[in-house]
Amino acid sequence: MIGRLNHVAIAVPDLDAAIKQYRDTLGADVGAAQDLAEHGVTVVFITLPNTKIELLHPFGDNSPITGFLDKNPSGGIHHICYEVDDILKARDHLIASGARVLGDGAPKTGAHGKPVLFLHPKDFTGTLVELEQT
Ligand code: CO
Repeated sequence: MIGRLNHVAIAVPDLDAAIKQYRDTLGADVGAAQDLAEHGVTVVFITLPNTKIELLHPFGDNSPITGFLDKNPSGGIHHICYEVDDILKARDHLIASGARVLGDGAPKTGAHGKPVLFLHPKDFTGTLVELEQT
């Protein structure tokens, strides 16, 4: 059911420092920062030859990653995103298999303008999983 790894998301306490590190130290292709008010995050995509890295930084007062950064003050891997062909079919299959979909179960529009859902990390070996319909 899952396809390509779309991205690995890393929560960072200092977005400018992380951008500089990926661009200047690691020599990666770093995109522009986007504020996603609906998700409470600022994101920066880094394009690698085979996948992407998503830098996440809190945006606004009720960011869902503030708690994560409180527990991981130097930052850390926050989630991984797999591509699916049909997100509603994938969701229904996962719910029927006993997995928990976060929120109300309705896909939201993600950073690429495509529908996304998040799956409970306790159901997936301690990893927060994002599904993106591509
Ligand atoms: Co993501």
